[in-house]
Amino acid sequence: MSEIDPKLLEIRTTDAEKQVKIIEEELDKIAKDDLAFIGDPKLDKLLSDNEKLKHRLAILQNAIKSEGNPKSAKNEPKKRPNLITDINSIEGTICILDELKNVFESAIVSAYPSLENPPVVITLSGNNPKFGDYQCNSAMPISQILKSKNIKSSPREVANNILNKTPTSPLIEKIEVAGAGFLNIYLNKALAAHVLNCILRFGVQPPPVKRERVIVDFSSPNIAKEMHVGHLRSTIIGDSICRVLEFLNHDVLRLNHLGDWGTQFGMLIAHLQDMFPNFKTHSPPISDLQAFYKESKKRFDEDEEFKKRAYSCVVQLQTGHPDYIAAWKLICEVSRQEFQKIYNRLNIKIVDRGESFYQSRMDKVVKELKDKGYLEEDDGRLIMWSNPETHDGIPLTVVKSDGGYTYDTSDISAIKQRVEEEKGDRFIYVTDVGQYTHFMTIDACARRAGILTGSKRIEHVGFGVVLGEDKKKFKTRSGDTIKLIDLLDEGLKRALDKLVEKGRDKVLKPEELQLAQEAVAYGCIKYADLSHNRINDYIFSFDKMLDDKGNTAVYLLYALTRIRSIARTAQISGEKLLEECQKTGFKLDHETEWKLGKVLLRFPEVILKVTSDLYLHSLCEYLYEISSAFTDFYDKCYCVEKDKTGNIVKIFYERLMLCEVTAKVMEQCLDILGIKTVSKM
Ligand code: ARG
Repeated sequence: MSEIDPKLLEIRTTDAEKQVKIIEEELDKIAKDDLAFIGDPKLDKLLSDNEKLKHRLAILQNAIKSEGNPKSAKNEPKKRPNLITDINSIEGTICILDELKNVFESAIVSAYPSLENPPVVITLSGNNPKFGDYQCNSAMPISQILKSKNIKSSPREVANNILNKTPTSPLIEKIEVAGAGFLNIYLNKALAAHVLNCILRFGVQPPPVKRERVIVDFSSPNIAKEMHVGHLRSTIIGDSICRVLEFLNHDVLRLNHLGDWGTQFGMLIAHLQDMFPNFKTHSPPISDLQAFYKESKKRFDEDEEFKKRAYSCVVQLQTGHPDYIAAWKLICEVSRQEFQKIYNRLNIKIVDRGESFYQSRMDKVVKELKDKGYLEEDDGRLIMWSNPETHDGIPLTVVKSDGGYTYDTSDISAIKQRVEEEKGDRFIYVTDVGQYTHFMTIDACARRAGILTGSKRIEHVGFGVVLGEDKKKFKTRSGDTIKLIDLLDEGLKRALDKLVEKGRDKVLKPEELQLAQEAVAYGCIKYADLSHNRINDYIFSFDKMLDDKGNTAVYLLYALTRIRSIARTAQISGEKLLEECQKTGFKLDHETEWKLGKVLLRFPEVILKVTSDLYLHSLCEYLYEISSAFTDFYDKCYCVEKDKTGNIVKIFYERLMLCEVTAKVMEQCLDILGIKTVSKM
């Protein structure tokens, strides 16, 4: 597109614009004539002329748009993607849903060139094979749009028109118009065979996407306070979001926005000075920082003298006095070590960048907002509205009446840093749903201040609270809050019980048993969290998450080891499978083979959906769907045929290949969910 000479473009565009003007005038005349000709046979001719002119007008207007108006060169012309014409040109993988959208968009645009942004609706068909594999449901809305333009055309008619204009695609076996105007699309087996072949040979590849820099703010506990189950959810969900983005080769920055700055440090430092006066030379043994926090809080509430000193400590800290900075660092370090234990167990990688990081930037942002006149005084505070006229929503408190900064100040600085210094394209925040308004206000104010522009925005990944089995707040039996480490320990214990109950301790070597125990324990905790719609509250139940019959990590891990063992018992190596695959390829003759194949083909579209809406439960549902389709297939199709004495009489290589691809896709999904797999359990 960029090759067009700008001069030529200018001439062509002006020319088209002129023609548009002439046609519009013609149309105007016809409209006036319409009234005069009522009842006249000439009316029919006029109306049909009118239709033709409108059609021509739309084509010209579209041409202007797609060639790019040189006067507004920023409006990038919409580039129609090249359609796939040869299956063998697909390298690695393909998102079938997206390609079908392209195919049908092309059909609809050529059937209805006058429609601007026509709806291209492609969905997966239900379970009934009568409805094909996918459906194009654009005919109804298009018929409606036409009706609003006084053009009568039934949805079935529209569907047939679309069908006539659909370019041939190697993805599609056939298309049928059905019911009120549905287009049922049947996939081509050769396509499936090719893609499955690629997976077997090259592994599960990510669908190609434009690389973006994505900042994911997750976990983010607060120093000296407990890391609670809410932070556990943020950690699990955030890590999985990073994993899916990393799988697509995005440039992901995993940020731990630690609450490591603020007035609570005053009392902590004052208490530290009293308890361990020589803390600078001898590292104090404070392993239980929460108890330490409680003690200092108690003194703060009860002792006026202490309170005063705590406040002066805050001032000293904020002015950067080295002794106070040293004390602060020490306290942060103790906390971080505690958090790290959780991250290590759950295999979480994250970069610490606490609120304190933004200290100097906050000064600058505040000054800038003040200078630009965005801040208003309110009862001694400085606040910022996202809309100063309407005062919609709630304002940010940018500076407190005592001159201190707030959570709002650090987040407005953080988004500025992430846009300007990190050069992020996407900004994701994983916290409980309660903070939704906070982040939307940050987004709106950042937009007002020109920090966020265009399509850049804050994406809040909210989640509900964790409840106990009694549906009340998650607590221990004695009513205390549950420490995360204890929770993970209990998970380990329960996982071991489960494995022993199934007699696995007698089959597995001790180190295999331990690997299985950890995979099951942490896998279950993660999967239980990720498999529910994150927006809802969720009930934490070890019994449910360790059930090997439901949609749980144990069930999936077992399913996977079983699939893996099929080839192993037939004593067929990976190389042998590849060799056979070169010879025969996939045929997918049996109904259940074809069904499983089609499920596996959907992996790219599931992944792309997750990266866009950031709801991981659809990936879990997909995993469950794979294992169900596999069970169906395995029930009905022999992979290895044995005689009565147990000797192998026939090996169905193509089916073993399908097992292998199933295992590969499942493993990739589990990896994205942060769940470790084991070869034996
Ligand atoms: N520390 C906060 C909390 O515990 C979460 C921080 C989330 N990130 C952010 N940029 N505000 O609730």
